[in-house]
Amino acid sequence: MEIAKTVSELRSFLAKGTRKNYSIGFVPTMGALHEGHLSLVRASKAKCDETIVSIFVNPTQFAQTEGLEKYPRTLDKDIALLQKEDVGILFIPSKEEIYPSGAATFVTVEKITESFEGAIRPTHFRGVATVVTSLFTIVRPEVAFFGQKDLQQTAVIKRMVRDLHFPLKIEVCETMREPDGLAMSSRNQFLSAEEREESLILSKTIFYVRDVMLEGMPFSVARLRGVNLFNSLKKRAVLEYLDIINPETFQLAESFKVNEEAAVIIAARIGETRLIDNVIIAAK
Ligand code: PAJ
Repeated sequence: MEIAKTVSELRSFLAKGTRKNYSIGFVPTMGALHEGHLSLVRASKAKCDETIVSIFVNPTQFAQTEGLEKYPRTLDKDIALLQKEDVGILFIPSKEEIYPSGAATFVTVEKITESFEGAIRPTHFRGVATVVTSLFTIVRPEVAFFGQKDLQQTAVIKRMVRDLHFPLKIEVCETMREPDGLAMSSRNQFLSAEEREESLILSKTIFYVRDVMLEGMPFSVARLRGVNLFNSLKKRAVLEYLDIINPETFQLAESFKVNEEAAVIIAARIGETRLIDNVIIAAK
């Protein structure tokens, strides 16, 4: 595996691979890698000739109170994991490499970024859209891989790619879960044993809501039943939102529509840790 720390190093590694119909798959991450990230790497390896992974803890997507400095950093372990997956190139730029001194350009996707995660974290998606734009411009992949785990992030990026005519495809890969149902996340390591147990409340709630929706319960009732279930199971957890939406637009959904998926999305705080999860219900 080649490791590039600068844009010019990356470009020189990429130049070696220039041949016709050569496809580059790209997996952007912030490191602290787990099976969820590795599933994206495997999807890219299966689909593309070369796979590039980036590890960059992007300061612009963290609000001041969100503990950028506390974000887990496990670079040696990450490198070993990516080597095992036989990744072609790892890009680990510095903050200065991505944001040159005096950087003043941001990418803002409107509307879809204003609800749910965007309402709770108002500058988050601007940071994500900006860094993903930079990374796409640097790496120039044919396909970029993102996890359904961060469903609103995938909707924002798809919208941006469509609106700005980026010449690439976005692939969304299913959420990897622990055997008991908890969605894998680098934040799970912050949970105490008790909180870890209570964290199952998120997946239990969304799967319950999905099941009653599939049985034909009106969405508004299904949502209320979900809130009740959450409240009956919780000890310390605080529900931030539980809603049923269209996963492309992030507008609230009231009933199944032909050819439109629905998704149940949840966010909750367990102690100091904020967790999110979702499940998509396929179009009928
Ligand atoms: P990060 O949280 O490191 O996640 C990198 C990618 O892994 C994202 O596409 C995320 O959705 C995916 N992922 C996380 N947990 C997953 C799981 N359990 N199953 C499947 N995929 C999972 O998301 C980011 O970084 C950043 O916002 C980034 C896009 C890199 C921009 O800075």
